[in-house]
Formats: sequence, C-alpha cells, structure tokens
Amino acid sequence: MKVLVIGGGGREHAIVRKLANDASHSGRELELFAAPGNPGIAELAQCVRIGAEDVEALLDFAKREAIDLTVVGPEAPLALGIVDRFEEAGLRIFGPHKAAAAIEASKSFARAEAEAAGVPSPKYRVFEVYEEALAYLREQHGPWVIKADGLAAGKGVTVTDDLAAAEAALRLAMADKVFGEAGNRVVIEEYLEGEEISVLALVDGSGFQLFPAIEDHKQVNDGDKGSNTGGMGTFAPVGVATDEVMAKVRDEVFGRMAKRFKEIGITYRGVLFAGLMVVDGQPYLIEFNARFGDPETQVGLELLESDLLAALEAVVADRVAEFPLRFARDAAVCVVLTAQGYPDAYRKGDGIEGIAQVRDAYVLQAGTATDAKGRVVTNGGRVLGVVARGGTLDEARALAYHAVDQVQFVGKHFRTDIGARRKGEG
Ligand code: AMP
Ligand code: GLY
Repeated sequence: MKVLVIGGGGREHAIVRKLANDASHSGRELELFAAPGNPGIAELAQCVRIGAEDVEALLDFAKREAIDLTVVGPEAPLALGIVDRFEEAGLRIFGPHKAAAAIEASKSFARAEAEAAGVPSPKYRVFEVYEEALAYLREQHGPWVIKADGLAAGKGVTVTDDLAAAEAALRLAMADKVFGEAGNRVVIEEYLEGEEISVLALVDGSGFQLFPAIEDHKQVNDGDKGSNTGGMGTFAPVGVATDEVMAKVRDEVFGRMAKRFKEIGITYRGVLFAGLMVVDGQPYLIEFNARFGDPETQVGLELLESDLLAALEAVVADRVAEFPLRFARDAAVCVVLTAQGYPDAYRKGDGIEGIAQVRDAYVLQAGTATDAKGRVVTNGGRVLGVVARGGTLDEARALAYHAVDQVQFVGKHFRTDIGARRKGEG
C-alpha cells in the first residue's frame, strides 16, 4: 500500500514514524511518501519536492504514483480544498472538505456554529467595520481577546491586558490589513481564565473517537512568560482533564458539534481538534482546528496503541464509531527545541549534533534541512521535538530532558518546565 503524508513538520514526522512502526509490527507492506517532508522524515519515507499548498502538483503526483491514501497534516491545503480535489479525482484522502475545514479557517464561522450547537463558549462579537470594533473594544473591560477571522499562520490572535495593545492589534488587522483578507472580519471575545487543554478527535459521519487530553505550553519561556508560539511542548495525562471534564468534552463539545454538522449538511471527516479552557471544571471552546495539532500529535501518537493507518482508513470509510481507538495509560512528553529568536526572526543554517546518540527517547524533526555537505541543519523556528514516555509524567520528563541535553545546535532554546506540575496539583 502507498501512503502520502502532506507536510514537513514535527507533526508529520510523528505521523510517518507511527505509520512505519505499525507496519513493521503488523508485517504490512507500506510504501511511505511525504511532501515535502524533512530530513528526519526522509529516513522513513520518500520525500518529494512539492510544497504542502501546491494542490495541483500533489494531485498529479498522487495520480501518477497511484497513492492509496493521502494524509493531510497542515491546515492550509485543507482550506484550499485539497480533499475536495482528490475526491473528485477518485483518490482516498484523510481530512475534512473545504466547507468543513472552515471550522478552523474562519473563526467567526466556528463561533457561530459552536453557538448554534450549544457548545459552551465565551461571549463574542464579530465585526467587519473597524470603527465599530474599536468602540466595542473600549466598552469592554480587559483582558481583551482579538482574533483575525482567517488563517494568519498562528499570529492572528492577541490576548492582552493593555488596552493600547488591544487597540493596536485591532488596527493592524482591520485597518492596516497586516494579515490581508484574514483581517476583513475580527472576533472580539470574552477572556477566560483557566487551564487550557487540547482534545483531538477522529470524526466522520458515523461518530467520533477522542484522544486523551493533551496540554500544550504556548509561551516561549518558562512559567508561561514571553510571546505566544505555535507550541513549545506538550504532555499527557493532564490533571485538570478528569473523567467528569472529559465527559463534558465528549457530550457538550464533540457530541453537540457532530449533531450540528449533520444539521448543516456537512459530513466532517478527519481530525477535529478542540482547544478548550477548563474553568472550575467546565470546558469552554477557545478554538477548533481541522487537523492534528502540532506538537499535540507527537504526544498523542506516542500513546496511541491502535494501528494508525487502520484508524485513518476507518474515518475515510465512515466507520470510526466502531473503531477501537486505544491509548496506553502511560505519560508522554514532547519538548520542542527552537532556534534563537523564535517566534520572531531566528537563526538558520546551524549544524545539529547528537540526534543519533539519543536513547530512551527520540527526536522528531520539524524545522530542519540538509546542507550542501549533507549535514542536518536548523531551518525553522521550531527545530526539533524530543519525545519520551514513562510510567509517570516525572519519568517521561526526566527521559525527555536527558535527551534534550544530548542534542546540540547553536542558539538552542527550550522550556525547562514542560509537563512540570502546576501550583495546586498534587
Ligand atoms: P488560538 O490561536 O486561537 O489558539 O489562540 C492563541 C491563544 O490565545 C490560545 O491558545 C489561548 O491561550 C489564548 N486565548 C484565545 N482565546 C482566548 C479566550 N477567549 N480567553 C483566554 N485566552 C484565550
Ligand atoms: N499546538 C496548537 C496547534 O496545533 O494549533
């Protein structure tokens, strides 16, 4: 069987690694391709030089190679309608259609549908006129949450307790159009204070299966200080995600959204990822994503015991409701190593040493490239993810951080508190 994974980050490395491991355990014949992939993925799959957003070139490649299943990693090709294009051509592909992927690509659509579904959510208002948005913003008390409606490469959300900064964010999005069309509409919402969890689900027309809750540390520095990033590290299990909380997540978030998708005539097939703020035991929707999370997937797939390919095929065939998605009861941690300067301008082209020496943990590559001499070098903000598993979070953390010390590159930055116990948790 031939499988093509679209994307070239840590999430896609995790997906390719799990597919390859499962195939070697089951004895399945699997030929793996990735577009564009990265040097780490290239050890497990054939990487093809096609960008993740070049939908027509990807389609040509999949037809030419007679790919049996394509798995879409990032959101951009989903928003461009890659799933619709592949299906029109009679090809099997894992991911939501363009209309369904709007749940991530338009924050106002997501908020409106979540509201119609009855998913617990913060209060919000949508604006298309800058002056009206500004007047509303000034009437609200802080902290302020301002979100450009469309995809903005993770930079479209501002959370601040400084009114001047909130006004600047609004102006940049709506008046200066720094995110282009993504800022034609802006959502201003109530700030919620709690602990944020990520819950991924495999969803199709038959139902859904949840992953365990995973927590992502988003700020660049220890103690949740500094700029927001795409994710500095993840861990599971998460203390705040008790059985009661997860029952609410299942019923009030995913159950209600599944029903809503049916009402509006959308068959959602793929991963639905809910970012949730847990406030006094009640989960509230922060955002939906239409794809696997990064770096949530690195931890989620480490704990997934079921065969990933079988799970993805179940979704494509609308059989996920009966699919036994099983997870280990262990703990897992992913520590992200970033390049100096990230999430602003960062260094590139520094040689990376020590990946092969890592034991009792493993390194997933994200922002890497191979230079003219064949060395693996830094080539992105989030460079590597170090993943480890343990019987407890402390064990997983110890193994991950031991491995983090073995991997070197100039300007290496990471948080030292991924998965560390929070105040008040025993
Ligand atoms: P997003 O890109 O939508 O995930 O937002 C970036 C981050 O902003 C989230 O991970 C949250 O930590 C924070 N955030 C977004 N919306 C809210 C909200 N309504 N209340 C509090 N924090 C929020
Ligand atoms: N880690 C957050 C995301 O994948 O959007």
